[in-house]
Amino acid sequence: MGPANGGCAIGSLNGSRQRITAGITTTMNTVANYQSVEQLRDRRAVTIRAIKPGDKTLLREAFKKLDDTSIRLRFFGPKMELTDQELIQATEIDFVRNVALVTCVQESARERIIGVGRYITYEERRPPLTAEVAFIVEEDFHGQGIASILFRHLVLIGREQGVSRFAAEVLPGNQTMLKVFDRAGLPIETKASTDCVHVTIFLNNDARS
Ligand SMILES: CC(C)(COP(=O)(O)OP(=O)(O)OC[C@H]1O[C@@H](n2cnc3c(N)ncnc32)[C@H](O)[C@@H]1OP(=O)(O)O)[C@@H](O)C(=O)NCCC(=O)NCCS
Repeated sequence: MGPANGGCAIGSLNGSRQRITAGITTTMNTVANYQSVEQLRDRRAVTIRAIKPGDKTLLREAFKKLDDTSIRLRFFGPKMELTDQELIQATEIDFVRNVALVTCVQESARERIIGVGRYITYEERRPPLTAEVAFIVEEDFHGQGIASILFRHLVLIGREQGVSRFAAEVLPGNQTMLKVFDRAGLPIETKASTDCVHVTIFLNNDARS
């Protein structure tokens, strides 16, 4: 749920337009207004949308529901709560270098955040532009395809923003995350070190360089 993991022109994302990709219809104004409706494997409808500054309370609540294992896999260590500063970092973002999408369901007439996917672009002076990507999904929604859906949307946005590669650091044993990357159907490279698997995903088939 948490803070940013850690310029490209927003260009063609400015101005309203409709995009139909792989069966999904996505309305794009700027990335900050990104919103799409998707269906989970159990056929429940969810909203995928850009995170916004007003999400701090929802994000704090979502973080509190996470179990220790999910927190360790995402943050590589224990974490009791998100601080005010981390909530600001997580929700008040530029949507150019730093992009975050949340997955939401309606529960008792309230929105609940059940997943977050984000990327942050490395400070690189020349292409290929690489962004570090990370996900977290509430345990009661695991296996519903949420990370895969978020990843697909981040790939669409990343490509539009000129990102060529996503990089991720995954703890050894986190097969679920590795499978989500693997099943996306994009060229992928993995390099294992003692404490981490470094994953590189190439967003364009010709970008492996
Ligand atoms: C890793 C994590 C984000 C995955 O989220 P998720 O929403 O459960 O992922 P998905 O539902 O998209 O994929 C999960 C399962 O569906 C499978 N799957 C994904 N796409 C599929 C597809 N198109 N068809 C069939 N199965 C698919 C995955 O292989 C995986 O299978 P498994 O149950 O055998 O492991 C989630 O487990 C989590 O939050 N973990 C803790 C935090 C973390 O590890 N973050 C990673 C740091 S980068």
